Amino acid sequence: MARFRFQTGRGPKRHPSISVIRLASMQTRRKAGAILILAFGLVAQTASRSTWDGVYTAAQANRGKDLYARQCLDCHGDDLEGDPENPALATSSFVYKWNGLTVGDLFERVHRDMPQNNRGTLTRQKAADLVAFLLSFNRFPAGERELPAELEALRRIRIDATPPERKK
Ligand code: HEC
Repeated sequence: MARFRFQTGRGPKRHPSISVIRLASMQTRRKAGAILILAFGLVAQTASRSTWDGVYTAAQANRGKDLYARQCLDCHGDDLEGDPENPALATSSFVYKWNGLTVGDLFERVHRDMPQNNRGTLTRQKAADLVAFLLSFNRFPAGERELPAELEALRRIRIDATPPERKK
């Protein structure tokens, strides 16, 4: 409404009906834009999965747990709580830090940089199993299929801090 007044208020030179036509076309354009954005949003939602969709299996997380005990626990702690030198890998601070990134990003971090005292020694399968364990420890649900060990596939899974039903 403010825009409408602004346009007609420019002076008597501009015929008011022209402004009305302009306003009308602006509104339809805006509506079309909103519909487009909505459509893209829906496509994006169905095309990508999130960590709430059961993206690893319980058995895989168990394998990761064993690996964690042998190769990670010394630094990151029993409960993944970390300490002043080593970051926590659980609790909401961890999940919110990774919120909006992908499981692929987390996988890459583990595969490339960990264990910090022996970098580059984890196979992709082991890194995927470790990530499955991290997801399960952070209370994301298990599902029917294992987390793949391919970066591209993992990049399509979003890390989402908030469960979908709590979003409005
Ligand atoms: C020697 C100690 C040490 C070991 C062993 C170790 N880490 Fe780390 N880790 C660190 C430190 C220190 C950082 C932060 C600095 C860095 O990234 O180098 C870190 C960072 C991380 C991060 C990123 C955390 C964040 O939120 O940014 C992840 C994930 C991780 N480690 C997982 C693992 C896993 C899985 C293992 C076992 C395979 C492991 N780490 C073994 C010391 C260690």
